[in-house]
Amino acid sequence: MFKKKSLLIVFEGVEGCGKSYQSKKLFNKLKKKKIDTIITREPGGTKSAELIRNLILKDYFLKNNKDKFDKYTDTLLYLAARNEHIKNKIKPALLKKKIVICDRFIDSTIAYQVYGKKVDAKFINNIHKKILSGIRPDLVFVLKVSQKISRIRLIKRKSKNRYDNFARSFYIKAQKSFIKIAKNKKNYFVLDSSNNDNSLEEKIFEITKRHLGIK
Ligand code: TMP
Repeated sequence: MFKKKSLLIVFEGVEGCGKSYQSKKLFNKLKKKKIDTIITREPGGTKSAELIRNLILKDYFLKNNKDKFDKYTDTLLYLAARNEHIKNKIKPALLKKKIVICDRFIDSTIAYQVYGKKVDAKFINNIHKKILSGIRPDLVFVLKVSQKISRIRLIKRKSKNRYDNFARSFYIKAQKSFIKIAKNKKNYFVLDSSNNDNSLEEKIFEITKRHLGIK
């Protein structure tokens, strides 16, 4: 019998790495086992955080640089969305001993804002100290993908996203950042998602079951 316990499972990686797909697969597998699980995403996950997400994503499509958010404004918007999300969704779910699967979380801010845009890490860490209220991911799956496969997946997408037009070097840098963040951390699993078969979802499920102590 599965003894209910809270767990925050996060999927991280560059666009087109398949993390949204894999989050859903894991969600369905846990549901099938009748394990109380919710699936959510960042930026977003609640009504207010989704409003902030729209602001962030709209800004990307502005043509004139002068009209765009400053990188600190942009960072604060991600953090504002996270605050709403933690307070109103993640924390209450964990308190009810649910499993929370989150498509992106704090490491995306480190990879994109700190490593990518050179936003001061201390600035982000200070705000995180306040808004995370001790919540940290229990399990992180970093999905690694080849540039070619990521491109193919992004081209197929109907809705274009913020970084869909970003330079190749930006993807490579972001992916390297995720791998660097994962280094030497026992609860991080860097997995290759370039193949389109179901071996990856099986692997992710096995690791999750091990963490939950179930078969
Ligand atoms: P998504 O495509 O996974 O929905 O994410 C939306 C974009 O937001 C994606 O390009 C990565 C970016 N992002 C950041 O730059 N910093 C963050 O903290 C988060 C959560 C996302």
